[in-house]
Amino acid sequence: MNVLFVTSELFPYVKTGGLGDVMAALPRAMRALGADVRVLLPAYPALREAVDLQGEAAAFPELMGGGPARILRADAPGLPLYLLDQPTFFDRPGNPYGHPGDLARRFAALAWAAAHLGRAGDAEGWRPDVLHGHDWPAGLVPAYVAYGDGPRPATVMTIHNIAFQGRFPASLLGGLGLPRHAFTPEGVEFHGDIGFLKAGLRLADRLSTVSPTYAREIQQANGHGLEGLLTHRNGSLRGILNGVDRVIWNPATDHHLVSRYDLKHPSRRAPNRPDFQRRMGLQEDPGAPLFVAVSRLDPLKGLDLVLDNVDYLVTRGAQLAVIGTGDFHAEGAFRQAAQRHPGQVAVFIGYDEALAHRAFAAADVVLVPSRQEPCGLTQLYAQAYGALPLVRRTGGLADTVVGMSPETLANDTATGFQFEAANGWALGEAINRALALFQDPATWRQVQRRGMAAEFGWEAPARAYLDLYATIPSKGY
Ligand code: ADP
Ligand code: GLC
Repeated sequence: MNVLFVTSELFPYVKTGGLGDVMAALPRAMRALGADVRVLLPAYPALREAVDLQGEAAAFPELMGGGPARILRADAPGLPLYLLDQPTFFDRPGNPYGHPGDLARRFAALAWAAAHLGRAGDAEGWRPDVLHGHDWPAGLVPAYVAYGDGPRPATVMTIHNIAFQGRFPASLLGGLGLPRHAFTPEGVEFHGDIGFLKAGLRLADRLSTVSPTYAREIQQANGHGLEGLLTHRNGSLRGILNGVDRVIWNPATDHHLVSRYDLKHPSRRAPNRPDFQRRMGLQEDPGAPLFVAVSRLDPLKGLDLVLDNVDYLVTRGAQLAVIGTGDFHAEGAFRQAAQRHPGQVAVFIGYDEALAHRAFAAADVVLVPSRQEPCGLTQLYAQAYGALPLVRRTGGLADTVVGMSPETLANDTATGFQFEAANGWALGEAINRALALFQDPATWRQVQRRGMAAEFGWEAPARAYLDLYATIPSKGY
């Protein structure tokens, strides 16, 4: 089976969050099961320079008002790629979602290129049976398939985060090469605008999102206006949990760490802590419980609940390190907290992959207090690295962390801490539970071991995606 993933991010070349990690791991896991999965994404300069270019798969004199465009075949290690090379749109440094002036046309171009490969195949005759779009940047893929001519590959849309929908003014319709009759509630129209994600969710053959709990939540309260559509399409929607890429996230082989360790050698974890404290400007206090958050600073991530607890954590003798970037006010508030408590609270504003690895290897507790969380990866990385995740019970966090309780301790299933209400007090109460367990090192190690032993591999999710494709009636190939 031939599958083309369509995405805006791919680790290690372009990543703003978990989407990049998933796009690197999932296609490789599906290839290991025998599916010919390839990935289409924009030819960002950093990407084009890093991969092996193989030649031209297609060329267009003009695409979406952005001038000439080509699709290049390229190879990343173990993963065939197609790169949409359109300098006007993609030869820019910085965040892939910046430059709002042509954001809609840019990702429409990507979706159109995907539909073209689905219809015509590449120069060597490779043609996808399934076009699988990820998040709003790929939302128009099913639309270009539905409103185009010729052979129609099956289409699948995966929601990694429904809060980002790609909504644009209706006046852009003509510029996106969509017919007028596409602008209906059964097509791309969404409350008078063009909705990229909405179009994908309306028109794709199958839908998925990245955890079973989030699949339920987005049909109820967390669907950001798409609850009704998703309830309507309930029979086509699956929740498939993300996994951990053990090549990248493995404390036994991680070269970002000063000391590598595994379940059999847990004491080798210890040197990572003073190394991280030094790098962050925290006191090298071996006894202080170390709380860490690695996160985009976005209101839905709930880091304001952590801000509410900064002084409390310090009063209780704990340390806090935050690695994140995003919301300007949150950045300022964390900087101020660090100034108020030098040596006890430290913040790194920015994006630093190596520092994130070191944080998970040093932390006692990784905080993930999200208001909404489709899956979440940092609570999985925390477990793999022997830190205890403390999470709000929502979305994928509810599905991947077993909260500590007398029962889960007794049957040895606990892997972390959960809390329910999205407020600072509820987080504070969970912090208290973590601090109490910290006084009981034997039980702490039990929970830590259970987390490190958790599987969270990519093989089971990869099979689940292949099973989802298999439910699509044949399109007549
Ligand atoms: P989301 O995709 O919503 O941001 P996830 O938990 O799925 O949330 O994925 C976040 C990914 O981004 C993880 O790989 C995490 O380590 C990484 N990350 C987030 N912020 C930073 C940062 N400031 N520096 C380095 N890595 C970060
Ligand atoms: C999104 C979600 C996150 C998920 C990631 C990968 O960015 O916010 O919860 O883990 O995608 O699927």
